[in-house]
Amino acid sequence: MISNTYKIITYGCQMNESDSERMGAQLESIGYRKIEDFKEAQVILINTCCVRESAENKIFGKIGELKHIKQQNPAVILGVTGCMAQKDGEALLKKMPHLDFVLGTNKIHDLCGLINKLKAKRKHLVDLAPADGGPMEEVMPPKSSSWSVWLPIMYGCNNFCTYCIVPYVRGREHSRPLEAILQEAQQYAKQGVKEITLLGQNVNSYGKDISKSSFAELLARLDEIKGLERIRYMTSHPRDLSDEVIKVIKYSKHICTHFHLPVQHGSDRILKAMNRGYTTASYRHLIEKIRSEIPGCSLTTDIIVGFPGETEDDFQMLEDFMREIRYDAAYTFLYSKRSGTPAAKMENQVPQEVKKQRLQKLMDMQNEISLQINEDLRGKILEVIVEGPSRTDENVYTGRTATNKIVLWPKRGTEKAGDLLRVKIEQPQTWVLKGEALYE
Ligand code: 5AD
Ligand code: SF4
Repeated sequence: MISNTYKIITYGCQMNESDSERMGAQLESIGYRKIEDFKEAQVILINTCCVRESAENKIFGKIGELKHIKQQNPAVILGVTGCMAQKDGEALLKKMPHLDFVLGTNKIHDLCGLINKLKAKRKHLVDLAPADGGPMEEVMPPKSSSWSVWLPIMYGCNNFCTYCIVPYVRGREHSRPLEAILQEAQQYAKQGVKEITLLGQNVNSYGKDISKSSFAELLARLDEIKGLERIRYMTSHPRDLSDEVIKVIKYSKHICTHFHLPVQHGSDRILKAMNRGYTTASYRHLIEKIRSEIPGCSLTTDIIVGFPGETEDDFQMLEDFMREIRYDAAYTFLYSKRSGTPAAKMENQVPQEVKKQRLQKLMDMQNEISLQINEDLRGKILEVIVEGPSRTDENVYTGRTATNKIVLWPKRGTEKAGDLLRVKIEQPQTWVLKGEALYE
């Protein structure tokens, strides 16, 4: 064990990754240093997700695995943060007594205080604010040396989709003040950051709770910041995406032309049971509007297969709808029963085997569509922001287009992460586009 070192193991969505960065910044402010190997770290945090049961099971496995580290080195500080921490609190300590603390999602700004308390007096600690304990305090931003950063703009969700645990865990929507976000973005731009990704469970309703600003205004102001090449955001709710936001994106210089609009299902009966607040007709209308205003934009989605009561007919409607919309890519999930949500109590839960078969069918169909869409890009020259060497070959570089497509090319020039580069697409595939960089 190396003293004053930490490791954060992160599960789940981008919001968790962002929270981990901010917790890391706090630990660094009191002299800790990040290391890769958790076996060597003095403070180990597991930042958790509870959106699906499969995630929870994996995390329980990981926490169990850490037991022998604690046995070998009782001085190691072991904590659980994130959504499972907020949801289960004290119960986690009872189930896993080798843990030192549990820190809720609305208390991450207090991490250093908690670590200091633990050092002074070793005992189990739980620090949870109620999920809806009012606006979250500002959390220290990471001192980023990276070219790309997460930027949370709001926390929580007001939607209560009937399958989803998030609103119970993360509480109601709380927007960060517009000025705080702009200031942070300006600071990043000065440090050389080229790409920011705005985060929130439902970014389109940004500002509604503080009534002084809107997502459209925030995007327009961020677009003016010198040095930022790419502005991304996630996640959008199809019901709340305003015409004004579409207009701002259309006339912006740096806002990416990629729309991630989770439809979740293609049967109106299921959408109603999910409490999504839109119909297939209104969703279709929205997509038509976006595609006519911003031709060439890309569209991705999230889908849940096997929601309670989903019949073969409903599933057929989902398949037909996805075929009609033609998404560039879709993230497909098996419905997972989350206790405490209304859907968990619904009758006609779909058997796991049926869910799996339907999911496979949908994925096969979507892969075909993704490949067809990418095939149209053969021979095109696309501008990418360089991300760096690919995972499998350091001579092959990877980058992303403004439409969020991953591009791979053999590196022959001096390009580095954060640079803009033009690449001619020669071999489109389902998930990536392979090509040759144009150096001139
Ligand atoms: N089961 C399966 N998928 C879920 N999601 C949210 N809750 C559940 C659940 N109970 C999916 C939704 C959401 C994505 C982040 O996770 O598709 O958009
Ligand atoms: Fe969950 Fe729905 Fe909120 Fe997304 S919008 S976080 S799916 S409740």
